[in-house]
Amino acid sequence: MLLHKIDEVREKVREWKKQGLTVGLVPTMGALHKGHLSLIKKSVEKCDKTVISVFVNPIQFCPGEDYEKYPRTLDADTKLAEEAGVDIVFAPSAEEMYGKGGILSNDFLTYVIPPYFYTDKLCGKSRVGHFDGVCTVVNKLFNIVQPDYAFFGEKDRQQLIIIKKMVKDLNIPLTIISCPIVREDDGLAMSSRNKYLSEDQRKEALVLKNILFNIKSCYNSGIKDIKALTETAYEFLKPCHELEYLEFRDRDNLEAKTEADKNTVVFIAVKIGSVRLIDNVSLES
Ligand code: PAF
Repeated sequence: MLLHKIDEVREKVREWKKQGLTVGLVPTMGALHKGHLSLIKKSVEKCDKTVISVFVNPIQFCPGEDYEKYPRTLDADTKLAEEAGVDIVFAPSAEEMYGKGGILSNDFLTYVIPPYFYTDKLCGKSRVGHFDGVCTVVNKLFNIVQPDYAFFGEKDRQQLIIIKKMVKDLNIPLTIISCPIVREDDGLAMSSRNKYLSEDQRKEALVLKNILFNIKSCYNSGIKDIKALTETAYEFLKPCHELEYLEFRDRDNLEAKTEADKNTVVFIAVKIGSVRLIDNVSLES
């Protein structure tokens, strides 16, 4: 069932709750791919009812980013979601979510601001304000749907860690379920933004997983020194790859690691042409 209005979703969920049914939420910005479908599958298996949101959230895009051209494929998304067992596809307009005032100016919107310690690094460094927009919309979706479980992918691991922190700090009564990265056959992490890659760029995009998997195998062979592990990346980088970051951080609180260990996640962002791709790997075996 495709719904556009907050009240309609609330009413439906209220009916389910009266019957004692559990509800799972999979927040998305649409352009569904196998990564999203793996989250949906988990929710459908775990919960009696599954809601997905399809909303390209304007307040999480920074000036000059791809808000306008972000792929919008609601008909195909709805079909895929329903085939996968989703009960409600919630696709609100920006006005429905933020009201007229909220769209026109940030000054008229209440924001949820995650701690600076979590947002001043990795993607937050170049995407200033991005995680404020994410936490605000996700908090609103939690309030609208009131799910028992919400499902997020490890592909956006900084986002996942920040959302877990928000849920803990604000005592939001639900459980976050994290789901592993889904990769194409050649190892590229699935992302809606892969659609922007030309044929040549698609080949070059493998540099992210090549660097990460190589670091993991060096770590497994006994190298723990972060400088030495970082240097292994340079053999993969070409002039067409613009490395934005390659960082070793704690999997729970994003603190910088001094030595690689099983609690370390290696995060990478690379720009290939104008397409910015991210990926990460946990060093836990
Ligand atoms: O990961 C995403 O697609 C978005 O950041 C999310 C969580 C749906 C919020 O808009």
